[in-house]
Amino acid sequence: MKAIVNVDNNWGIGIGDKLLNHIPADMKFFKETTTGNVVVMGRATFMTFPGPKALPNRVNIVLTKDEDWTARDVIVCHSIEELFSQLQRYDTDTVYVIGGSTVYEQLLPYCDTAYVTKVDSKKTADKFFPDLDKMKDWAVKCESESMEHNGTSFKFVTYNKI
Ligand SMILES: NC(=O)c1ccc[n+]([C@@H]2O[C@H](COP(=O)([O-])OP(=O)(O)OC[C@H]3O[C@@H](n4cnc5c(N)ncnc54)[C@H](OP(=O)(O)O)[C@@H]3O)[C@@H](O)[C@H]2O)c1
Repeated sequence: MKAIVNVDNNWGIGIGDKLLNHIPADMKFFKETTTGNVVVMGRATFMTFPGPKALPNRVNIVLTKDEDWTARDVIVCHSIEELFSQLQRYDTDTVYVIGGSTVYEQLLPYCDTAYVTKVDSKKTADKFFPDLDKMKDWAVKCESESMEHNGTSFKFVTYNKI
């Protein structure tokens, strides 16, 4: 299982139901990395999608405690246990945790890789990803050159669990 996330310098990922940063190259990376695979998310993150509709060409799994909630082309799970039972059907390397903060927090212990787009900005955030630079069992495997979008620098960093 892998996590994929976009963070600012404080490991902020969102405010309310909004992302902190919209960087086309990052959106492209997210789409290319997750297409054809399984994406796992919380209901709040699903509700931020346009529509809200499932992400195309991916198996969409949404966590909610609401037994009545459904959405087209979505597999709904009501607990982490139910999620893991569903995930037995898929190769673990094809499963991407895509947020938000509550789901990253719960599933990071099961991830072996994290694709982190680090944006050189400090925005006001109320949703965060765990700071992997402070976690002894995570290390940077590789990182891209720094790139720029509208004057904001960002880079793609891959972390592995050690
Ligand atoms: N920067 C990034 O890469 C990135 C990626 C994704 C999201 N985000 C941002 O993150 C924010 C949303 O994150 P969030 O933490 O507020 O919400 P979230 O994690 O997306 O969703 C939380 C909801 O998921 C359900 N849930 C979580 N754990 C569950 C469990 N064990 N069993 C059953 N249901 C469970 C619950 O839904 P119910 O209340 O329906 O029971 C819970 O309220 C937004 O600001 C979004 O823009 C950022």
